[in-house]
Amino acid sequence: MDIRYPKATPNINEQTIQNMAGVPKPTGMIPAEVYRDRRRRLLEKMGTGVAVIFSADSIGKGQRQDLDFYYLTGLEYEAGAALLLAPEHPHFKEQLFLSALDIEDTRWHGTRLMLGRALDLGTGFAKAKRISLLAPSLVEAVLYSAKRELVYLGPIVGYQTAIPKQLQVLRDASARILGSSIRDGHEILPRMRSIHDAYEIEVMSKAIGITTEAFKLAMKTVQPGMNEGQLQSVFENHFRANLCKANAYEPIVGAGGNSCVLHYTQNNQQIKDGDLVLCDVGCEFEMYASDITRTFPANGKFSPRQREIYTIVLNAWKAAVAIARPGTTWQALNDAARQVIEDAGYADEYFHSVGHFVGLYVHDAGIQREILSAGMVITVEPGIYLASEGIGIRIEDDILITEDGCRVLSANLPREIDEIEQLMAKA
Ligand code: GLY
Ligand code: MN
Ligand code: MN
Repeated sequence: MDIRYPKATPNINEQTIQNMAGVPKPTGMIPAEVYRDRRRRLLEKMGTGVAVIFSADSIGKGQRQDLDFYYLTGLEYEAGAALLLAPEHPHFKEQLFLSALDIEDTRWHGTRLMLGRALDLGTGFAKAKRISLLAPSLVEAVLYSAKRELVYLGPIVGYQTAIPKQLQVLRDASARILGSSIRDGHEILPRMRSIHDAYEIEVMSKAIGITTEAFKLAMKTVQPGMNEGQLQSVFENHFRANLCKANAYEPIVGAGGNSCVLHYTQNNQQIKDGDLVLCDVGCEFEMYASDITRTFPANGKFSPRQREIYTIVLNAWKAAVAIARPGTTWQALNDAARQVIEDAGYADEYFHSVGHFVGLYVHDAGIQREILSAGMVITVEPGIYLASEGIGIRIEDDILITEDGCRVLSANLPREIDEIEQLMAKA
């Protein structure tokens, strides 16, 4: 019987695969060489042993690609795949294993290529293989490792969380390879991922730029009587129109007392005259997140009390940003913001930490026990929440640590009271 598999195309080169459907390849603003270089650096940092990183089991309906797999391959849509890393292997230091080719599935989800040159070139690997070969390839790679080491590159999780697939596979493999052991490498990827290269900064700046414009639109659009959900849609419509496939996280659009609820996401109440509206919203652009918060008056004018509290939060923000540079600890950043709020008498009304890493995920990988370094992108987001007065204020920006200080990537979005009032002033 003649089964019509898609043909591997002869005489293929990097140019022609750009337009071929069915070729898994890095898309977007970051070129394939960057992913190759990340894998090269990871192999160097591992030094010895064998590691495996799985892609997500399925992608879509809110489920994203595994972020370590994406960081190392740029393959956003390959589910059920794996990356094998073996720095001691004489021939195959990096191997990509793709899920099986199911010819009937192509009618539902589009054509996928057979193994071949186009697939290799697209993925940027010397030779892509099918996932059924992962187990024997893993054994072979460990036997090439002088100390028979397996290296765990995933996160350390609490005892209530299921054992991650990566760790389980290493344990199962180790049980079958006599004399082998598992080495802890769980800090390697968070440390790499937290230092962003120029390409990533460009993509993140784009995400931040789109979010900044969305905030400006929201500030100009809001008025008493509007529903929080309508204001949310101003952000989301702008995100979709600018090719963001998703929000970076569940948006928080809280007016009045809702601004005091840290994880308020119902976003379904009417905004009243005199309310402050706290909007904590970010988009996902080419897999990277932005994370911004502004708090502004629904009627365009801060009341004297709102001004007073806003100014304290703003000063706390400024105190933290003033010391954000290489060498600063997270503790120092926290202390700087907290001191301002404590001195103003609101210690109990500021009950979260000053920020987190941002990148492929809103609360991205990184090691907060370590000092800040150039290339990190962090948030600074102090707040004061006075539930009895219905005044919740947070100011949050995305900040790049540079060689000699920091750069506020979301600097184009007004933060000072006068600037906000000016932007919101009706013509
Ligand atoms: N939007 C979540 C956060 O600010 O951490
Ligand atoms: Mn944040
Ligand atoms: Mn936020």
